[in-house]
Amino acid sequence: MQIRIIKNETELACAAADIFEETITNKPNAILGLATGASPVLTYKELIRRYEAGLISFKDVITFNLDEYCDLPRDDKNSYFTFMQENLFKKININPENVHIEDGNAENFDAEAKAYDDKIAAAGYVDLQLLGIGTNGHIGFNEPADTFTEGTFRIRLSESTIRANSRYFTDSKMPEYALTMGVGSIMKAKKILLIATGEAKAEAIYNTVKGPVTPHCPASILQTHPDAVLLLDEAAAERL
Ligand code: F6R
Repeated sequence: MQIRIIKNETELACAAADIFEETITNKPNAILGLATGASPVLTYKELIRRYEAGLISFKDVITFNLDEYCDLPRDDKNSYFTFMQENLFKKININPENVHIEDGNAENFDAEAKAYDDKIAAAGYVDLQLLGIGTNGHIGFNEPADTFTEGTFRIRLSESTIRANSRYFTDSKMPEYALTMGVGSIMKAKKILLIATGEAKAEAIYNTVKGPVTPHCPASILQTHPDAVLLLDEAAAERL
């Protein structure tokens, strides 16, 4: 695991965007695994800036998002579909056919999960997977558990995740379930880039880096990935 501690969020977003730019420059039809939430917002802004400046093109890029809430309309302001449109896709030259996000309103969640994994495999697996981390060490929506998860599946969100994300659901009830790539799917990515900022993440980062590899801190599995990079601000890294 490569750990880089970066002074401020702007520089951290630039460092993350550098890794994206390198991936896309080397492989214009790169497969990107994308995350939502607060952590990647500045990185997406920087990618948009570089696209507008003519430094990168997303014309042939293919994306797979980590997760999506279940039973939330796709056009709800809090769906991850909407998040991705607003924070990235609408502002770059990506082909909408190359964008993949789980269908949280599928009639059959198991079939949707299997189809999602099949699409990732058919595309040749993710070249660069971006991750945030939950305060409980979750990646995607893989919550602490007794075993590591494998492929995409439907999960009941933990109380701590519901507490952390309810802040976005000001006028509707936060969903209790989500579809998420499993830890096994995430680990198949050729390169993984995890971003964490703020002291609320310090304990999860400590457990990820210094703790044992355990499904009770799902991000700790990154210790065993051959090419995982952690970009941290000083607050997130304060316990290392
Ligand atoms: C989002 C995701 C989650 C978040 C995590 C951190 O697609 O998979 O694991 O990365 O909950 O969220 P923020 O960045 O909002 O602190």
